[in-house]
Order: sequence, then C-alpha cells, then structure tokens
Amino acid sequence: MKKKITKAIFPVAGLGTRFLPATKSVPKEIMTLVDRPLIQYAIDEARAAGIKEFIFITSRGKGALEDYFDEAPQLEQALRKKGKTELLEELQSTNMESGAIAYIRQHKALGLGHAVWCARRLIANEPFAVILPDDVIAAEKSCLQQMVEAYEESPGCMVAAMEVPADQASSYGVLDVKEDMGSLVSVNGMVEKPEAGKAPSNLAVIGRYILTPDVLRSLNKKQVGAGGEIQLTDAIANEIAEGRPVHGFRFSGQRFDCGTKAGFLQASVSFGLNRPDLRDDLLGYIQNIVSTQKAAE
Ligand code: UTP
Repeated sequence: MKKKITKAIFPVAGLGTRFLPATKSVPKEIMTLVDRPLIQYAIDEARAAGIKEFIFITSRGKGALEDYFDEAPQLEQALRKKGKTELLEELQSTNMESGAIAYIRQHKALGLGHAVWCARRLIANEPFAVILPDDVIAAEKSCLQQMVEAYEESPGCMVAAMEVPADQASSYGVLDVKEDMGSLVSVNGMVEKPEAGKAPSNLAVIGRYILTPDVLRSLNKKQVGAGGEIQLTDAIANEIAEGRPVHGFRFSGQRFDCGTKAGFLQASVSFGLNRPDLRDDLLGYIQNIVSTQKAAE
C-alpha cells in the first residue's frame, strides 16, 4: 500500500526582498491577511490534508515565526478571566502539539531546492509535501488535500498547476505537458523561469508539491540553475528524465501570490470581504473609492 503523506516542509528561509523594509525585522510569513499570519493559512491547509509533522526551513531573523507557535498561557489566562471564550478558542486553535514541529536552519539562501534538501534527514525515505506559505490558496477543500487525494490514485511526484497569461510565464516554473487529462496532466519536462516567448505551455507551477524521496537524492547533486540558485524545479525535472512519473494538478480554488505587494493587497481585500464582520464596511469603502475615481475621470 502507498505510504500516506504525513510530513510537510515549509521553506521560509528566503530573504523576502520584495517586502523590504518590512522584512528587515518581520518575517514575510508573519505578515497578516486580516488577522492571521500567512503561516497560519499554510498550517491550516496542511492539517486539513492530514499532515502530522511540520518541518520549517528557517534562517536568521525568523525568531518571530518560531515564537508564534509557542503556547501563550498568560494570554490564555487573561482571556479566560475576561470571559472571551471565542477569542480563547481562536487562540488555542493555533497551538501546535509538542514534537509536531521541527525547525531546520538553512545557513545560506541558496535556493528553494537547497531549502528542501536541508530537511532530508527528517524526511528519510517517505513521500512528503512542500508548501510555500506565500502562495495562499482560498479553496473549499484545501489545495493540498485535493492533491493528496489525487496522489492516492497516481504515483510519483505532483505539483500544483495553474494557467497564467503568456507574458507572466517567465516568473514561474512552467510545465511541458505530455497529456492533458483534465485536472491531472502528465509532464514531459519543466522549465524554471523560461525566457520570454520560450515557455513550453501556460501551465505554471504553484507552491504546493508532493514529492518522492528520489527528489532529495537528486538535490544531493546541488546543481545550480536559474538565477544562480539550486532549483526544486530542476530536481523534479530530473525525475522525468529518469523515467519516473510527474503530474501537474489543476487545483480548484483561488491563488494569491502573497510574495508580491499587489498579490498581498488583493488577498487582504478578498479575505476581508469574506469575513461577515468586515464585509459591509469594506465593500462600502471600496464602492465609495470606485465611484469617486469614476467621477474624477
Ligand atoms: P521567493 O522566490 O519568494 O524568495 O522564495 P523570497 O526570498 O521569499 O522573496 P523575495 O523574492 O526576496 O521577495 C519562494 C519560497 O522559497 C523559500 C522562501 O522563503 C519562499 O517561501 N526559500 C527561497 C528558501 O526557504 N530558501 C531559499 O534559499 C530561497
């Protein structure tokens, strides 16, 4: 029987330069959409998919991220005293079981592939998931859960995939599609950040992966790729070259690129509009701005 996916890697060791100066002291993953940090959305998604072990690849200056998962007994006691039960429950839902989280330090930001490789001893010989917390996916069924279900039917590696406009393909890893089977596509190859006009398709890889331990063995070679970084895409492409199956999975849901300012703002608005306590105020405000803008045109 196929081994269940119970381990997930969360690479959070990047420099977050697109959010400077904020990321000078605040890890990108602690920035909040409404009132939850990006990392909480990623953890909730992983839990819904059955993940039991959470492996963070961190770096210098990410202490706030580690503290976030500690229990806060004083705060809990204060809320209890004040009878703020709902807030207390909300807070307790962020607590993690002792031993469920591991932190591994990536000493140098050598690339996403290198970050994943840093977890090789904890992963050992099992298939595992990778979640990039700055890709936030709003979905009825968590994106990773959709992928785990699809993985149970098809062996090998799986990457989340999404159609992107042709002029944006060079910002992504792009799939060279062999056979399109609807939500699942089999893949001939993958190119990280292809040159403009040279993308093999418009199906881009989004930050959710289910990978086999073979990928870690391939990352052992520490092959440097696009942008001078050790790329995860190259190690997955190597799986295809070795004749092992790799699938793209078109998930249902809306993805926000919270690694960019525009994506982060869009996500904030969208998540705000989805909150019953905020919706009316926010919508009224947006409608007001739009009509003022229109009147000025
Ligand atoms: P990004 O390409 O978004 O880089 O990394 P970044 O450093 O986070 O942000 P910018 O581009 O400087 O603004 C994608 C994911 O891979 C992780 C990041 O933390 C992010 O989750 N990563 C990247 C690492 O963990 N280590 C690396 O060496 C590179």
